[in-house]
Formats: sequence, C-alpha cells, structure tokens
Amino acid sequence: MKRIFVTRAIPENGLNILRTAGFDLDVWSGDLPPARDVLLSRAKGVHGVLSMLSDGIDRLFMETAGPQLKVISNFAVGVNNIDLQEAAARNILIGHTPDVLTDATADLAMGLLLSAARRFGEAFSMVQESRWKTWEPIGHIGTDLKGKTIGIYGMGRIGSAVARRAARGWDMKVLYTSRSPHAELCNGFEADHVDFDTLLEKSDYVSAHAPLTPETKKVFNCRAFERMKPSAVFINTARGGLCDQSALADALSSGQIFAAGLDVTDPEPILEDSPLLGLPNCVITPHIGSATKESRAAMATIAAENLRLGLADQPLRCAVPL
Ligand code: DGY
Repeated sequence: MKRIFVTRAIPENGLNILRTAGFDLDVWSGDLPPARDVLLSRAKGVHGVLSMLSDGIDRLFMETAGPQLKVISNFAVGVNNIDLQEAAARNILIGHTPDVLTDATADLAMGLLLSAARRFGEAFSMVQESRWKTWEPIGHIGTDLKGKTIGIYGMGRIGSAVARRAARGWDMKVLYTSRSPHAELCNGFEADHVDFDTLLEKSDYVSAHAPLTPETKKVFNCRAFERMKPSAVFINTARGGLCDQSALADALSSGQIFAAGLDVTDPEPILEDSPLLGLPNCVITPHIGSATKESRAAMATIAAENLRLGLADQPLRCAVPL
C-alpha cells in the first residue's frame, strides 16, 4: 500500500479522495505545522506528500523520504517552499493548485487596497476601543480609488484578476510589469506594459503578484519606496519575501508612502517586534488570500488528485513544469 504524509489537516473532500484511492494516510493533525524533525521523521518511506507552503521541502527532506518518493503535491499555487531543482534531479513530480484560488486572492487584494486607502484598520480600532466620540469632518480622511492608476507587479492569473477588478469596478488605469507583455490576460480592460521604475512612479496603488524567486526577492526595497508617490498605497498578497519589511516600515512611518495592506510577511507569522505592527497606516491579515470555503475545497480536490494521478503513473492534474 502506498504511503502518503499529509502535513496538515485539509478539507475532508481531499482526504476522502486519498482514502478512496486506497492510500495509507498519515495526517498531521496539529494546529501548528510539524516541527522540522517531525516533518523529516514522518517523511521516511512515503511515496507522496501533500505539503503546505509552511513546510520546507528541500534536499534533506527528499533524501530522508527515500527514493520511493514520487509526488510532492503542494496545497498552494506558490511553490517557493520546494527545491524544484532537487525534485527534478530526483524525478519527483510537483503538483500545485492554480486557478481555483485566483478570485479569492484577488478579492482579498482589493479588500486590503480598500482597507488601506480608506483607513479601515484605524477606524475599526477606534470603534472597538470606544474612542468614537463624534462624526469627524476632517478625520479619517483616506483616498479615492475611482479613476486612479494601479500598478500590477506580476501580470499572471491573480495579477490580471486584480487588474480586471480595478479597471472594471473602479475605472482605474492599469500599468503592469512582467517579463513580457501579456495581452492575452488583459481581457475586457486595457493595460500598459511598463518598466518597474515607471510602474512605481506613475501608480497610485502598487499591488504585488509575482512569485518569490531570487530575482524578485526584496524587489520592494528602499529604492523602490523612494520612487513611489507620497500618496501611494502598497499591497502584497503574494509572498512576504518580495518586500524588505524594514524599508516598508520606514517608508510608512516617514510618510514616503501613504499606506500598505499586506496578507503576507517574512517570516510568517510576523515577528512580535516588527515595526510594521505599530503602524496605523499598515493593515495586515494572516495570509488568508485563498481562505474561502470554495477555494480551499477546490484546492483540496486538486492537491489530492495530483497525488492520486501521479502515484498511478498518470499526468498530474496541475503539474509544476520542472
Ligand atoms: C498560495 O496558494 O500560494 C497562497 O499563498 C495560499 O493559498
């Protein structure tokens, strides 16, 4: 019987696919991810692993698992937690869960954009802490969305879904950077492909949607924030590693940019002493982009199907090209 390690509890529909396929399942049921030594010891002898973005799936993991490990199915679209080169060298297939979380994540990005632009965080705290005394004619002043310019860093599935919402919902002008122009993704809205500096200088809202790679690591740094408008709002729903957090904290506290909305940090969870935590113009959610009932159920189906198919020597439903 083929053995599978599922590194966290996932929606039941995914586990049922794996049970029905007759696998011997080991599901880690802790509220927190398994510690590194536990992850490694539970990996020994498995044929497949259903991993989370919080698990470091590196050379040591693959070596410890053993040569029978055939499929790593990540419960995420991003795969920056996996050493893809090592997997390719070992002929291990990598699965992920694209598309089904695009709308949920794009909705969250727009939610953060609205929250940061309209200062929801400060407003929520004022009400909850009983500091709401009166209607304020010159208090809580945020910034409009309609007709502004949004700059999308990484025009992939999620980037284009955010661009579409901004263009069609709020009449925003769309600029984007990507390695190459992506006219095919700009369905029903216009978008200009520009270089990174132009994106930073011309955008009122800058939203990050690129994968984390050596090229994109800390691309939002001091230099980038210096180029942004003082009225700019920065949104990151991709990976915390795209942004230099201390540069962002400086930019927010000095008024170099107006506000930020983050669903991702580096590390996760954010450190208790992070300077971002004390800033009223920074709204932070705990990596909940794909956290809708529908998206998570669909992710569970795809992640389980990837294992079922891969371990039956069939092409994965959603394979990461290696
Ligand atoms: C992903 O899928 O990569 C998200 O960050 C979590 O759903």
